[in-house]
Amino acid sequence: MSKIPHRLYLTEDQMPQKWFNLRSAMAEQPDPLLHPGTLRPLGVDDLSPIFCEELARQELDGATAYVDIPEPIQNVYKMYRPSPLIRAYELEKALDTPARIYYKFEGNNTSGSHKLNSAVAQAYYAKMQGLTGVTTETGAGQWGTALSEACSYFGLTCDVFMVKCSYEQKPFRKAVMNVFDASITPSPSPTTEVGRQILRDHPDTTGSLGCAISEAVESAVQSGGAKRYVLGSVLNQVLLHQSIIGLESKLAMEQLGEYPDVVVGCAGGGSNLGGLIAPFMADKLRGIRNPRIVAVEPASCPSLTRGKYAYDFCDTGRVTPLARMYTLGCGFIPSANHAGGLRYHGMSPILSKLYHDGYMEAVAYEQTRVFEAAVLFAKRETILPAPESAHAIRGAIDEALRCRESREAKTILFGLTGTGYFDMTAYENYLSGKMSDSIPTDADLQKGFDSLPKIPQNEGI
Ligand SMILES: Cc1ncc(COP(=O)(O)O)c(C=O)c1O
Repeated sequence: MSKIPHRLYLTEDQMPQKWFNLRSAMAEQPDPLLHPGTLRPLGVDDLSPIFCEELARQELDGATAYVDIPEPIQNVYKMYRPSPLIRAYELEKALDTPARIYYKFEGNNTSGSHKLNSAVAQAYYAKMQGLTGVTTETGAGQWGTALSEACSYFGLTCDVFMVKCSYEQKPFRKAVMNVFDASITPSPSPTTEVGRQILRDHPDTTGSLGCAISEAVESAVQSGGAKRYVLGSVLNQVLLHQSIIGLESKLAMEQLGEYPDVVVGCAGGGSNLGGLIAPFMADKLRGIRNPRIVAVEPASCPSLTRGKYAYDFCDTGRVTPLARMYTLGCGFIPSANHAGGLRYHGMSPILSKLYHDGYMEAVAYEQTRVFEAAVLFAKRETILPAPESAHAIRGAIDEALRCRESREAKTILFGLTGTGYFDMTAYENYLSGKMSDSIPTDADLQKGFDSLPKIPQNEGI
């Protein structure tokens, strides 16, 4: 066989025209979203006041295997997709490993991350429904940027509640969103009831994703039907849109005569990982292949490795539906880790179910080890990774180092979700030796678990 190229780009014609719904391959479905008042499973009518109708349908549909990607969405995708599958030759050399390392690079668009894949879809469905705009939260800023781009393209307003510490630390993220006409409010803010309440209870808080979600939901509900709330992770619909990552990866690997022995991805709310693994996990569930699937999370916010599998709110203000997921408790406020996009108390219900049933592994790393991997990767592969993505790099490097010990030439695939140009304060902290690690104690975690809703479904947890 001829030498495998450094970068494989599928052609525009080869870009998948359907998303893949991983739930359709699961013999047991994730537990349903529950109404927090009645504790009954939610239907499309319950979700429609908050979410766009089509997205509410996608959220609840576990059966349809393939969903057509509407042409206007495909046309936007084609401006930055298919994304390359890259063979990490230089990293392999630096590690002196017999493993073959591949990564799918999703940072080649202005948002700098995979988030645009779902933002475009969600903005499109909002437009089709005749809404004037959408509201959302953003932590690190990638999702807010992606949604701003998508809303500007489809002619929608975009109200972003941005976690206060990111708002203050990353002025240029805000500036990029302003280019796309988004309106950005630091959260918690006095503009919503839930924001005012959080500020009364915690006047010095620098915010969290959970708080910002509460504000964005309230602001959509208060819009008199003109707007809906959209979320960039966790939800089934978001994993569906992100399946394009995995579908392209599988196709590209097939062209190279490859199939991954291990698939590694970082996990915040689970959207990139859920998308990357979708077709590989389906093979595993169907008994066709048996790749190992590894989720990598920060040791400071270890929802899979140390969380509980329980019903919980998706936000801090307790205004969202209840989801059964691995969670640290909606009251858990993670320490100020530099990977803002991984600082979320919960995890996608789909990934949570797969992890609970033993189809997936998880590891947690301290941020200094993650940045060590990020810097090595940047030097060898010339891409400056986002801190979130660097978790996957750390995981892949450790897999490759194990291959060095065992002399196994395994094929490793990881998701490089984005670039880190707006995270230079974090890199500077690391390089000057100022970065420290913060790992919650069991007592810290218990405080979060105490905030889990006291409902019959959670008895004994
Ligand atoms: C670059 C990047 N990677 C990963 C994540 C984690 O999100 P998810 O777990 O939904 O993929 C984020 C979230 O903001 C991100 O910006």
